[in-house]
Amino acid sequence: MHEQKVPYGTAAMTDPRSPATGSTAGRLALIGIVVVGVAGAFAYTAGWFTPDRVTPATVVNRLAPPGGPALGFRRNHAKGICFTGVFEANGAGAALSKAQVLATGSYPVTGRFNLAVPDPKAEDASARVRGLSLRLRSPDGQEWRTAMIDAPFFPVATPQAFAELLVASARKDDPDAMKNFAAAHPEIGAFGAWAGSAPFTGSYAENRYNSLNSFVFTNAQGQDQRVRWSFAPAAAAQSVPPEELKKRAPDFLAKDITDRVAQSSQRWTLTVIIANPGDPTADPSKAWPDDRRKVEVGTLVVQKIEPEPNGACRDLNFDPTVLPPGMRTSDDPFPAARSATYSVSYNRRTAEEKDYPRGTSGAKP
Ligand code: HEM
Repeated sequence: MHEQKVPYGTAAMTDPRSPATGSTAGRLALIGIVVVGVAGAFAYTAGWFTPDRVTPATVVNRLAPPGGPALGFRRNHAKGICFTGVFEANGAGAALSKAQVLATGSYPVTGRFNLAVPDPKAEDASARVRGLSLRLRSPDGQEWRTAMIDAPFFPVATPQAFAELLVASARKDDPDAMKNFAAAHPEIGAFGAWAGSAPFTGSYAENRYNSLNSFVFTNAQGQDQRVRWSFAPAAAAQSVPPEELKKRAPDFLAKDITDRVAQSSQRWTLTVIIANPGDPTADPSKAWPDDRRKVEVGTLVVQKIEPEPNGACRDLNFDPTVLPPGMRTSDDPFPAARSATYSVSYNRRTAEEKDYPRGTSGAKP
């Protein structure tokens, strides 16, 4: 029996009834070609042929501190604490979005207070940016996930610039790296000014948390609104100088929020901010003017704090593209980029559970 060659790219590669697959050697050759092709496609997609290509995996790699990532933990916003509570919708949001979670009612929430650091053992006073992540669920089986920060705008205008910022800020060998980055991305100046002057508070409960990214809400009449949102605290913000915070225990924020919630539920008002025509929706480094229409749509009530190792937020991915019908992403490129990187981080950390055992209070020494 003589062997037949399988011409590349012909039906013989895909049609199992082809005479070319008649011999065992031919069949094995065919399997080999398919396996090599699939492996090549995976390698290409993973960026193995183009190591400089920016992919969600390279961005997650770049988030790691110099000593490497903290295994088992989120690759950014690694330090945090879980909570459960409810969102009490007052019904005003129904005019903006048909999402059930904005119809009058009370909906269960799983959330996480966190710090924008890649090291879960970072001292609380060292983190300039604090975050609030939420998953709100409604009886129709839909979910709204959102991960917000207390800054009023993002440091850079595009996901690509964020990836470049991670490289520039790690270049200890090049003292001009950040200067050159700032020259190419002048929007970072406003963030630097905010970071250098905005007052710190001594509590997660006193911070306001902002979506920064824009989304589109659609109401029952099919009308679209381009929106951002903010959760404003009921607790009055008390400014604490950074040098005072540095004297506090390394985990003072977790203790503070645990003590407060043990005494009484903590609340935030959710305000939806509606863009005027022409407002920049694709660029979270640009705040919208303060006079934009705002609608208070409900209250977040944090009822129970749970340490992260066994907490309900531990294995949640607060992917900002998980939205109920009535909400969708806009022309802002960040949510899709964030979704892709959060997924890489999630897959890595959940595969590393042994490095962050349940029932412990934090990272291995
Ligand atoms: C392209 C830009 C961004 C990248 C690459 C990025 C990357 C990440 C990664 C990898 C995580 C860990 C996810 C996980 O393992 O669950 C994370 C978490 C988080 N990010 Fe981002 N991020 C970006 C932009 C933003 C923006 C614009 C905000 C706020 C408006 C934000 C707020 C947060 C918060 C609050 C968390 C904690 C989520 C949690 O509690 O699980 N990020 N980010």
